[in-house]
Amino acid sequence: MAPSKPLHVKTPLRESIPLSKLAGTKVYLKLDSAQPTGSFKIRGGNAGLAAAYSARRLGIPATIYVPTSTPAFTVERLKDEGSNVCVEGEMLAESTKAAKELVKNNPEWVYVSPYDDPLIWEGHMSLIREIKEQMESKPGALALSVGGGGMLCGVIRGLRETKALLRRCLKVFKGIATTLGVNTVAVETLKLAQEHPVFSVVVTDREAVVAIEKFVDDEKILVEPACGAALTSVYSQVVQRLQAEGKLSPQLDSLVVIVCGGNNITLAELQHLKEQLGIQNDKDHWGQDSTENQVALAVWDVTSQANSGTFRASLQACWKPCAY
Ligand SMILES: Cc1ncc(COP(=O)(O)O)c(C=O)c1O
Repeated sequence: MAPSKPLHVKTPLRESIPLSKLAGTKVYLKLDSAQPTGSFKIRGGNAGLAAAYSARRLGIPATIYVPTSTPAFTVERLKDEGSNVCVEGEMLAESTKAAKELVKNNPEWVYVSPYDDPLIWEGHMSLIREIKEQMESKPGALALSVGGGGMLCGVIRGLRETKALLRRCLKVFKGIATTLGVNTVAVETLKLAQEHPVFSVVVTDREAVVAIEKFVDDEKILVEPACGAALTSVYSQVVQRLQAEGKLSPQLDSLVVIVCGGNNITLAELQHLKEQLGIQNDKDHWGQDSTENQVALAVWDVTSQANSGTFRASLQACWKPCAY
């Protein structure tokens, strides 16, 4: 029987003192890691675990296609939700192709994209509606990770709804943050990105992994590297760099980091990732990372254009071989 309430919950938005100290501006965390299934994805009912959870709650069957890079513990969790799981292809594109084949041959089935569907963007818009409700004043900037661009689409649409405007954003990626690893963004993301100034930053796998470890220390919350990308806005001083370059306002009222969460992580996996990247447990966190895979995040400047109500952001393209 279908539940009468949404499957996602309203998540906390709270100030982080450790991250504010580092960023030199007030940092608020939008804690979507607190969603059922541990990720913002449940807002749009998309992506493996969110789809599996939704299917169980709605009492409908689901088959989840995942790439071979998916950790065994994630496959296990999908099965625990009662879904069939098919491991197909090295990259999400191949899994997607297999899932679409299934639907083509079984007309009663419906394909749910991980990021490319208006219903998904509508779900992700709720992030901005909540932030608007939870903040007394407009945030100075927003930082979030981008994979296929579903979250970005929802966020841009949400910001448009609140009468704020943005432009330009694009990203292509492969790397450790495997849930960001699609080879194309949604057409709508590209369209919205071209309609508004979108400002982009690319960070390395190492930075994302270091960020998630520091975040455990600072906030006692473990998130996956895909979310770590957004956290590098603070831990890798991305925001300060953009301020120094004159791209972000030097006087940001605040920074909201969307802590999108994610499930592709355990303490053992974090240790494994650190070993893979040669990250020591001492101060060697920021070693050589020039040859590593990279992840992307978007940082949106709200205040510098506050009078005209225009947001600025950008996102750079990056595509390197998968580390798994
Ligand atoms: C934890 C996490 N953050 C960010 C993203 C990127 O979301 P999108 O594909 O909507 O850009 C994903 C995608 O799976 C994810 O799992």
